[in-house]
Amino acid sequence: MPLKPFDIPQAHHLIGGAWIRGKATIQVTDPSVGAPLTTIARGNAEDIDAAVIAAQAAREGEWGRMAALERGRILTRIGQMVLEQVETLAKLEARDVGKPLKQARADAVALARYMEFYGGAADKIHGETIPYLDGYTVYTLREPHGVTGHIIPWNYPMQIIGRSVGAALAMGNACVLKPAEDACLTALAFAQIAMEAGLPAGALSVVTGLGSEAGAALAAHPGVQHISFTGSVRTGEAIQAAAATNVIPVTLELGGKSPQIVFDDADLDRALPFLINAGIQNAGQTCSASSRILVQRRIYDEVRDRMAAAYGELKVGPAMEDLDVGPLISAKQKEIVTGFLEKGADLTIAAQGQIVTDAAGHYVPPTLFANVPPDHILAQDEIFDPVQAIIPFEDEAEAIRIANGTDYGLVAAIWTRDGGRQMRLAKALKSGQVFINNYGAGGGVELPFGGVGKSGHGREKGFEALYGFSTLKTVAAWHG
Ligand code: NAI
Ligand code: MG
Repeated sequence: MPLKPFDIPQAHHLIGGAWIRGKATIQVTDPSVGAPLTTIARGNAEDIDAAVIAAQAAREGEWGRMAALERGRILTRIGQMVLEQVETLAKLEARDVGKPLKQARADAVALARYMEFYGGAADKIHGETIPYLDGYTVYTLREPHGVTGHIIPWNYPMQIIGRSVGAALAMGNACVLKPAEDACLTALAFAQIAMEAGLPAGALSVVTGLGSEAGAALAAHPGVQHISFTGSVRTGEAIQAAAATNVIPVTLELGGKSPQIVFDDADLDRALPFLINAGIQNAGQTCSASSRILVQRRIYDEVRDRMAAAYGELKVGPAMEDLDVGPLISAKQKEIVTGFLEKGADLTIAAQGQIVTDAAGHYVPPTLFANVPPDHILAQDEIFDPVQAIIPFEDEAEAIRIANGTDYGLVAAIWTRDGGRQMRLAKALKSGQVFINNYGAGGGVELPFGGVGKSGHGREKGFEALYGFSTLKTVAAWHG
């Protein structure tokens, strides 16, 4: 049955405050049942061009002149309206991306929280005065880039809209959003809410479509001054190359192989739910999923057995049944991850969860691999599947070596009661975030987030994102 959320017309873009019918369409499916859900518009370079022109007009018009406090009020209002619609947005997301309802609900609440946070921050970021030579006054102005492009993936549409579009709007940029083809519905619903909350036309346009068409056109558009991208390393490279042709900055968040390091003095009762949830949340399709569990040898058997027992209880099924794990996003992703799991044929499986549905969705069993060599492909490559590799280590030095031994560096966790060790590891780990005796896969609106190495560069979330979504002008005045 076609899904018509809010008043959103099917197969339309939202450009310059108006719903524009797509010249072509794409059929999208419900990953829980593998059946058609609705159609979206298949945007092209012309649609992107129209959205950029609308954004430029917004910058030159009411939106560009609006006081920071008024921008903040609009964002705060959007946040309140999102909160009122949490249930509807969560159901929409669950159908569109196969996410169990409680996880979809958490995403909608996080989206509201981002809008509140950035609504409150909009009028609290400012330049400085700088002591200089006699007869001068020097100050800095923090200004928006202008038009910002946002190319986002399908795993956490609402959260990633919140962290990138929210911060960009707070700074006064006008945004063009290209959601992933498999996950457009909450992006369109969000834009509708934003309009109803009073966001001026053109301050946010949503063009749906394929990465190779609408996405590539946005990344290369000469009228765009900043690109924010979350997704795969390969597409990130293409986007950075496209942005380089216009010499504009990019923020890239490209996933990881994030470790949690469990020392033999850790509070295991506290650690265990974090260890497992960070691997299976959103069916492992999380940039900051913790796919490597490093365990000190003395407690290795105990941790493996306790994790295995929990894995044995995991239930996989349709999003609307709200079990532990839903389907993967698409048949294509299932094919990719199944290919990866075959590469683990030489490894020991400690436990697997159970698929408890006959529905023709894209289901895979959560899988816990034991005793994985740190250089094994399953301990090196991002798989994007509910799969975790347990890796034993002897001492602190070996733990650091293994943890830092991938191309990635997004999130890491340290589980130990030893304060000195906490501080040493927090410094030694190559990672954008380090959690001590906790793990925040995706959480923490206030916490700057981003990677090192192939996990990308630039920071979103928290106050820090506002620096990335703005540029600094230095004004040096000589007055004698
Ligand atoms: P992708 O990186 O190709 O897609 C992400 C976004 O980029 C989508 O909106 C897509 O339409 C767009 N895109 C694709 N090609 C583009 C291009 N040439 N120019 C501009 N935009 C383009 O990721 P995909 O194919 O959906 O997933 C493949 C793998 O990527 C996953 O298995 C996972 O390992 C990784 N991934 C990582 C994510 C993260 O959160 N860091 C999110 C999604 C995927
Ligand atoms: Mg979908």
